[in-house]
Amino acid sequence: MLDVIIRHAGLAYGMHTLFSNLDLTLKGGQWTCLLGGSGVGKTSLLRFIAGLHSGKGIHREGSVTCQDGQPLKGRIAWMAQQDTLLPWLSVLNNITLGDKLRAPFFRQKKSAPEVKERALDILQKVGLEKKADVLPHCLSGGQRQRVALARTLMENRPVVLMDEPFGSLDAVTRLNLQDLACELLANKTVLLITHDPLEALRLGHQVYHLRGHPATLTDAIEPEGPPPRSLEDSRLLLLQGRLLDRLRHEELEGSP
Ligand SMILES: Nc1ncnc2c1ncn2[C@@H]1O[C@H](COP(=O)(O)OP(=O)(O)OP(=O)(O)O)[C@@H](O)[C@H]1O
Ligand SMILES: [Mg+2]
Repeated sequence: MLDVIIRHAGLAYGMHTLFSNLDLTLKGGQWTCLLGGSGVGKTSLLRFIAGLHSGKGIHREGSVTCQDGQPLKGRIAWMAQQDTLLPWLSVLNNITLGDKLRAPFFRQKKSAPEVKERALDILQKVGLEKKADVLPHCLSGGQRQRVALARTLMENRPVVLMDEPFGSLDAVTRLNLQDLACELLANKTVLLITHDPLEALRLGHQVYHLRGHPATLTDAIEPEGPPPRSLEDSRLLLLQGRLLDRLRHEELEGSP
């Protein structure tokens, strides 16, 4: 299980400094959850960790390292808020696309049998084995997110960065997918961005709040017990109340 260590991170788009001197450790095999107002820099921090920033006017500093000393590049799976499924590919082909793109040219048209078998196994885990040949537009929002989760699992990377992956779902589907992700991503190092304090407290081993301009991280909240935590746990609801109060307070302080 891989710790990811971010030290003295700084990012500016031109004159706009989003954060500087920011330290964060994503503990191996645990879920780190990140809350914060719109525009504060959460997605940018995710992109920073993934090393996705480049281009004119973007300044980045600091380091992202792994505790095993190996580069993080190639060891990250990304799950975005929008499911980014390709509409012309079947569910199965969406899931195996990463493998095909990495495959040698001669076998890019067809998945190797073992890849297909693994994809079908993962589809079964997310409860969509009967939808393998269906196009994404025939799926509900929750089913599409399950395909996106399946694609993330298919990549089988030790580090998973998730940017509001359950944001657009109804309450019940969201809870089910949270549970499923928790089960299937056990032992991975996960960073989850969410706007939902309850989601963060249910799933996170550490819950941080990114706030201010330039943004800083508050001390971590570490809810008791293993995730996913029960919604009937009174300690969780108490923490949610406190966290919401804090978020509201800080929004008010931060507003012009
Ligand atoms: N490539 C870019 N070039 C210039 N400015 C950018 C770029 N990407 C993001 N920004 C700006 O940086 C700020 C933070 O954006 P970011 O997407 O990280 O916010 P966020 O916290 O993820 O917000 P949300 O909760 O709405 O997704 C915003 O003001 C945005 O306009
Ligand atoms: Mg964002």
